[in-house]
Amino acid sequence: MARKSIVSGIGETCAIDGVSFRPSRAGDFDFALELYLESTKPLLIALDRWDESKIVSRFTESFRLDQIQMLAAPPRDIGWLQLSESDEEVHIDQIHLITGHRNRGIGTKIVRALQECTAASMRRLALNVIRGNRAQALYERLGFRHDGGDEERLRMVWTGEA
Ligand SMILES: CC(C)(COP(=O)(O)OP(=O)(O)OC[C@H]1O[C@@H](n2cnc3c(N)ncnc32)[C@H](O)[C@@H]1OP(=O)(O)O)[C@@H](O)C(=O)NCCC(=O)NCCS
Repeated sequence: MARKSIVSGIGETCAIDGVSFRPSRAGDFDFALELYLESTKPLLIALDRWDESKIVSRFTESFRLDQIQMLAAPPRDIGWLQLSESDEEVHIDQIHLITGHRNRGIGTKIVRALQECTAASMRRLALNVIRGNRAQALYERLGFRHDGGDEERLRMVWTGEA
């Protein structure tokens, strides 16, 4: 039987006061792109890897509505989450919050909920973080370990093992 995707069920597994999840729609693209560019631009410039047209076309190709849930603090959207899944791995492709909603524990709650779901389905949880992104510290605190990567991004993996 096909497994229900974790991203589509995230609203049921992750309770955050005042924040809700909803499926994404095509009209969310501009919001998601703007937020993505805002957070990645300074990091990629610092690595001398800023090429806006290439980055936007790569983003456009990977923007898959079935893999995305939007986060809302009604009446407005405050972020978005994109996951890809295989039999072995759940991968956090994107996790972004708008500035005023960062540092309040929302990211921690989402990642913890994803850890529970991946552990329950006997898979690992992985992501790639741009080198220099302070989010790396968050993932380290939550038990992710370094697992290679390239000059631009560090791959991090959580398997549930200490
Ligand atoms: C990364 C992010 C999803 C974390 O969610 P959050 O709700 O802010 O995180 P929490 O409040 O649970 O935890 C705080 C930690 O988040 C990370 N964080 C906070 N602000 C951040 C920012 N502007 N950019 C990157 N990471 C940030 C830090 O690791 C912080 O810990 P620190 O204070 O010790 O540095 C959120 O900050 C964000 O959207 N940042 C910008 C986009 C981004 O970098 N996404 C990650 C791509 S891999």
